[in-house]
Amino acid sequence: MKTYTNVKDLGDLNLAIKEALEVKKNRYAYKHLGENKTCLMVFFNSSLRTRLSTQKAAMNLGMNTMVLDVNQGAWKLETERGVIMDGDKSEHLLEAVPVMGQFCDIIGVRSFARFENKAFDYEETILNQFIKYSGKPVFSMESGTVHPLQAFADLITIEEYKKKERPKVVLSWAPHPRALPQAVPNSFADFMNEANVDFVITHPEGYELAEQFARNAKIEYNQDKAFEGADFIYAKNWSAYQDPNYGKILSQDMSWTVDSKKMALTNNAFFMHCLPVRRNMIVTDDVIESPTSLVIPEAGNREISAQVVIKRMLEAL
Ligand code: CP
Repeated sequence: MKTYTNVKDLGDLNLAIKEALEVKKNRYAYKHLGENKTCLMVFFNSSLRTRLSTQKAAMNLGMNTMVLDVNQGAWKLETERGVIMDGDKSEHLLEAVPVMGQFCDIIGVRSFARFENKAFDYEETILNQFIKYSGKPVFSMESGTVHPLQAFADLITIEEYKKKERPKVVLSWAPHPRALPQAVPNSFADFMNEANVDFVITHPEGYELAEQFARNAKIEYNQDKAFEGADFIYAKNWSAYQDPNYGKILSQDMSWTVDSKKMALTNNAFFMHCLPVRRNMIVTDDVIESPTSLVIPEAGNREISAQVVIKRMLEAL
């Protein structure tokens, strides 16, 4: 594997899940693969889970790890070509990326959508500069439009907890005080559309995701109706994708918060969220603390999804 940005990069999804469950049973079995190899993790944005789980995954594989927080201690980086660099940015990504590539074998990149320019975000400009100029395998640790390590961990979690062969999985928009990227729902939809699930997306009108991610998912604007008979509720906020509202908050309707009344409409569904979560905006305390909340094992599976991806990259070096 040379790049990891979407579900297709995993090839056969059933085999990928099988591999993940095997890795989970014996996560130190491949320690020899990473000997004398270095995983560089580059963060343009904050992280708790991705930082810890990816580092742990690389260490499980015997790798050395290096973490670069671009906005803390490194030179400020210019990302656009053609800019006269007379401001506060001392270095261009076009030099910085190949230099980073000199010191590692695999690179993970976190770089969120900026909401300044939809094309810049949706062309994955920063991630693609790493893919093009680092000379190393590159994986997304949440980039402009995708968070595939999260979505793979989500799928592993669903596989572990599902009580029927083909569960109903509902991705539900929920309110949030800040404008958030579409990366998590995009990748969740990307994965669920390929998985053996009945997939429904529910959100207020105006929050339609990009077609390349939503694909043939059923869209239901009535949240209560969407929740009926659901086996998994995956809550997440995102800002508008469609023009002219790209990156904007269109609603903060608190009736979309996932509470016990809404969960009672489901088939005793499990609750999922990628975290971090705003309690009593996205989900009420009682739902996230309930026995059917999977948020902690789901976060734990981030180590496993990262380990499968890094393992495959090491095997292809
Ligand atoms: N879910 C997730 O990616 O968490 P972090 O932003 O803390 O890494």
